[in-house]
Amino acid sequence: MVREWDPRTASSAEIASLLDTLNAVLAADLPQDPPWRESSLREYLSEVMPGERRISWVAQAEPTAGGGPGAMLGHVHVLLLGDIGVLEVLVHPTSRRTGLGRDLVRLAARRAYQEGFRSIGVEVVGETPAVAFYEALGFSREYVETRSVLDLSAVGWTALAEMATAVSAGYRVEFCPGGPPDDLIDAYARAKAEVRDVDDGELRPSSYDPQRLRDSLDTLHRRGMKPYIVLAIHERTGVVAGLTEVVVPAQHPTRADQYDTIVMQDHRGYGIDRAIKARMLLELRSAEPTLAEVQTWNAQANEAMLKVNAELGYRADREWCEYSVDVADLVHRLDPAR
Ligand SMILES: CC(C)(COP(=O)(O)OP(=O)(O)OC[C@H]1O[C@@H](n2cnc3c(N)ncnc32)[C@H](O)[C@@H]1OP(=O)(O)O)[C@@H](O)C(=O)NCCC(=O)NCCS
Repeated sequence: MVREWDPRTASSAEIASLLDTLNAVLAADLPQDPPWRESSLREYLSEVMPGERRISWVAQAEPTAGGGPGAMLGHVHVLLLGDIGVLEVLVHPTSRRTGLGRDLVRLAARRAYQEGFRSIGVEVVGETPAVAFYEALGFSREYVETRSVLDLSAVGWTALAEMATAVSAGYRVEFCPGGPPDDLIDAYARAKAEVRDVDDGELRPSSYDPQRLRDSLDTLHRRGMKPYIVLAIHERTGVVAGLTEVVVPAQHPTRADQYDTIVMQDHRGYGIDRAIKARMLLELRSAEPTLAEVQTWNAQANEAMLKVNAELGYRADREWCEYSVDVADLVHRLDPAR
């Protein structure tokens, strides 16, 4: 049975079953990734930024003989933000190639179409069945990044401590667990605005407006995702010259996600990128003692960033692609009668 589903009101048994399916998908498609935990999973699935909506559907097996809810065999959600819908689909490995994935996408696409959305985007992990799936559905590849993973047990901490202090005179490096301090929000947002053009087209939009930045931090906290930030402050002017962001999600707290790292144009060439990332790893080592890995995504053309990441010990893992499709085309392809 396929039906619209609201994670806010779903039973705990349904949330637990969805977690099992997600972990079965990870074991099949990304076996090196840590399994997810139930902590804040409901909030992760339901909390959104102001003005955004996430609509979900599930495919559920028949109730069990004992009357318990049937297992979650598939799940789709579409996050409606701005003028784009961002899709995520999961089908349990034992239920694949029966047309379920296509049925779930059809539901989400129809809704996006009815709501007037023109385009749907999706993140597709390289070397998984999702590539052939989305290509069969007519999605096209827009953008490719490389995911890299840093194994903290292989880090040379002494060398890292040197990197953390190797920043030119005139800059102060600060660790801010939880997010930037309130008096630096405007300067922080300005630094993010500088890379706005670079970020355009990505499915993970950067927050370059102070209010949007506050909302985004608040949403992260509500979803059970703990942000850590290291800033480089230019002491003479007080501007945020560089920043790096790492998030530790309650759902997989042994593997953190590196978000943006930005060094403002006028402050490049002073060792800030390497120093702030090294300082972040040193701080995380004590703030999050169970953390084992950090993952990051970079454009393949971003050679400077890839070089620093390689020095820190990041190893390229796999391609991470963004695909998109015109909603009307997709609806007509999946639902020719409409
Ligand atoms: C991608 C995914 C949703 C496909 O679900 P599915 O129910 O197996 O897909 P369908 O049966 O609807 O397939 C539709 C079409 O896609 C294509 N396709 C799907 N899987 C394919 C595969 N493994 N190889 C080649 N083509 C494939 C085929 O053209 C298929 O049509 P056909 O079976 O008539 O030939 C499923 O594999 C999945 O959940 N993957 C994980 C997705 C994810 O988000 N992962 C993130 C963490 S890894």
